[in-house]
Amino acid sequence: MANTAHFDFDTVVERRGTASLKWEKYRGRDVIPLWVADMDFRSPPAVIRALQQRVADGVFGYTVAPEELTAAVVAMLATRYDWKVNPEWLVWLPGLVSGLNVACRAVGEVGEDVMTAVPVYPPFLTAPAHSRRNLIKVALKEKNNRWQFDFDLLAQSITPATRLFILCNPHNPVGRVYTRDELATLAAICRKHDIVICSDEIHCDLILDGEKRHIPTAMLDPETSARTITLMAPSKTFNVPGLGCAFAVISEENLRARFKKAMAGIVPGVNALGYAAAWAAFTECADWQAALLEYLRGNRDAVAQAVARMPLLSMAPVEATYLAWIDARAAGLKKPAAFFEAAGVGLQDGIEFDAPGFVRLNFGCPRSLLKEALDRMAAAMADISKCS
Ligand SMILES: Cc1ncc(COP(=O)(O)O)c(C=O)c1O
Repeated sequence: MANTAHFDFDTVVERRGTASLKWEKYRGRDVIPLWVADMDFRSPPAVIRALQQRVADGVFGYTVAPEELTAAVVAMLATRYDWKVNPEWLVWLPGLVSGLNVACRAVGEVGEDVMTAVPVYPPFLTAPAHSRRNLIKVALKEKNNRWQFDFDLLAQSITPATRLFILCNPHNPVGRVYTRDELATLAAICRKHDIVICSDEIHCDLILDGEKRHIPTAMLDPETSARTITLMAPSKTFNVPGLGCAFAVISEENLRARFKKAMAGIVPGVNALGYAAAWAAFTECADWQAALLEYLRGNRDAVAQAVARMPLLSMAPVEATYLAWIDARAAGLKKPAAFFEAAGVGLQDGIEFDAPGFVRLNFGCPRSLLKEALDRMAAAMADISKCS
């Protein structure tokens, strides 16, 4: 049992005036920002210490991936997922979004097709066009209060030119942790049509549902491993997205070579501080992570309870991530995020995820801030109910 008592997630850290993307958006306005996916918590003490030590070195030349970090990642994947990864399979990246874009360039040709399931994290929607590929969107379906793949629709939507499927697991924004059966069905379809899978697993260490386990797609079977580019990072779990450190795991040699070729001359190396933070995150922060998950579960419950009290809003259970995907369609609002912003809460509009009428709420913040935001939303919704 982790010793979780001594970590503080309740203190509101002042992020105004720190050039925070999340907070700068509403500079000078009384809007609580619950949009972009970073958390308002300080990073784990061990990460802060590792960064301080690295800064104290005082020399910041070009950096290669430290051998001990590669070893730590290999050990972490073996311990957490029983996934035996060869160190050569790792490709370090300055961010997952770079990885998504590189995957689109590395697989197939200009004019061919890339498929994804929507709603989804916006860079999934833009990456194919950046490399002159066409995007095929397949809608997830909500059934029994659970977002799921529509495999019939998915199979029907595949064209002879479909080369890549970009998967988000756990899924941002719908919060699903896909089961082995779901992943196996998807993998079988991809195998049948010779489609490469790019599996974005950035949220894999943020599983909130105690019954669920993250299954790396590449672990399903050797054939799927050979057609999968897995993307992972310490950035979401340990709240270091501003340090730009991520990695791809690609077991198949030719696919890895294509991926590296697509990166050449464009994608910079990871910076020295990103590596230092990643090492500490993967080796010294298990207690902090356990405490974080416990705190996030409390926040998730607070959101679910508040939404349940607002008759025009609804949401499915959040199995993973610190993001709640809220259906506001019953409220009949043209621009729900703008509506909540006017009420003092900064959410992300579903339209950016290909789902108008929804909003995404980031609950990775001190509970007091979250409760204030939920109160503001409830007051705004009560006003609508009175008018309708
Ligand atoms: C699914 C997913 N992929 C990638 C990213 C961003 O990755 P990065 O900051 O490493 O580019 C996010 C951030 O929210 C995300 O939710």
